[in-house]
Amino acid sequence: MSFILVADDEKSLRDFLAIMLEEEGYQVVTASSVEKAIKLINEKNFDLVLTDIRMGRSNGIDVLDAARNSLPDTPVVMMTAYASAETAVTAMKKGAYDYISKPFKIEDIQLIVKNALDKRKLAQENRFLKTALSERFQISNIIGKSGPIQKIFDLVEKVAQSKATVLITGESGTGKELIAKAIHFNGSRKNYPFVSINCGALPENLLESELFGYEKGAFTSADSLKLGLMESANKGSFFFDEIGDAPLSTQVKLLRVLQENEIMRLGGTQSIPVDLRIIAATNSNLSELVEKKSFREDLYYRLNVIPIHLPPLRERKEDIPDLVEFFINKYNARHNKTHIKGIDPEALKCFERYAWPGNVRELENVIERAVVLETEKRIRKTSLPDELLGQLSPDKIQVPALGQSDIDLEKTLDQIEKKIIANALMRSNGIINKAAEALNLSFRSMRYRIEKHKLKDKPKDGN
Ligand SMILES: Nc1ncnc2c1ncn2[C@@H]1O[C@H](COP(=O)(O)OP(=O)(O)OP(=O)(O)O)[C@@H](O)[C@H]1O
Ligand SMILES: [Mg+2]
Repeated sequence: MSFILVADDEKSLRDFLAIMLEEEGYQVVTASSVEKAIKLINEKNFDLVLTDIRMGRSNGIDVLDAARNSLPDTPVVMMTAYASAETAVTAMKKGAYDYISKPFKIEDIQLIVKNALDKRKLAQENRFLKTALSERFQISNIIGKSGPIQKIFDLVEKVAQSKATVLITGESGTGKELIAKAIHFNGSRKNYPFVSINCGALPENLLESELFGYEKGAFTSADSLKLGLMESANKGSFFFDEIGDAPLSTQVKLLRVLQENEIMRLGGTQSIPVDLRIIAATNSNLSELVEKKSFREDLYYRLNVIPIHLPPLRERKEDIPDLVEFFINKYNARHNKTHIKGIDPEALKCFERYAWPGNVRELENVIERAVVLETEKRIRKTSLPDELLGQLSPDKIQVPALGQSDIDLEKTLDQIEKKIIANALMRSNGIINKAAEALNLSFRSMRYRIEKHKLKDKPKDGN
């Protein structure tokens, strides 16, 4: 039930409004003076305030000010017997929702009250949704204690306040989109749209009509004007995902947007100014694409103002336990399973040994699956997929140095050897004989390699 304050120094009007509004199902409190109204506003949470502008020597604008101050979502409707345009304009400028001249018809006041309350409800829902969203992307809700991630959090906090263009790089599943949203929702643009587009998901002409919109008649099927995403994101942030996949012709147009802060609808002749914070992400190596001439160098420099590189999960394994806990809680809640309390140390070891080619997204999927499958209180090895248990074929082993132009061959081979040995040991439950057999090595050769890679404190003999 909506709660309404009626402030008027004229008793007959106060009573009339109270009776009329109560009949409509509202709860009404009345005040006979500006002072009494302000006192009530400071004490109670009204959904709507109806106030006279002139009450004796006092001014109803003071009631408006008090309401704006303590009840910012509450609409205030001004009533005036002296239809002075000037005071009405002052009131509107100060944030009154509407005003109505006395004498008024019952229907008029009923309609104004209903509209004002609807608007308040919308504003509240909106505020609620926005807070929920920006809370989700608070930096404190992004997991990671490792050095590189902490540095990224610091950077995100700093750049969020600016309009500088950000280029986020990192392998698939490292959290690029999450960071892009954190930048948006922790900055001054958070109440404006965050719009994203995947540059690789659409063919060129569709991508451009989505981005820039088109004028009526721009092409045969353009039978009406269509606003582009960039135009509708005005004042917010625009996220270009997989920017490396943007076709060259689209790249030219994007460069123009970045340089001039304006767009042109397809088939249009007029530039339209846009105010956008641009964030781009890619899991390919843009400077290599520039060398291969499939990415424009000028656009690359325009985008790369603030680079943020998200390291792969295998390079920040100290984040794994926190991520595991975070996702256990998340999926416990989602699947209404509150019985999973944590993870078995044995199972956690598998997490720490694994190379996570799909990064955090893969870890999240593994946990979701385990939460669903696990019947005990803790996630055990038996609820993990084979890859994690070490049943990994050698061709699946990650060679991180490939794809970079300079590699240290000895070191790389050494790392690969270490992974294969560790893997074989895990599969044989630490039994060296068995592990050696699986790799077609002699026992001595196996023991030598284990020592070389410090894979065990002290290799036990054979069984
Ligand atoms: N540090 C983190 N803390 C909590 N959740 C994370 C973290 N990093 C990634 N995630 C989660 O992992 C999933 C993948 O992240 P995201 O979609 O941002 O990755 P991406 O780098 O954009 O991947 P792709 O290149 O495949 O698009 C998301 O569900 C995201 O919420
Ligand atoms: Mg992504």
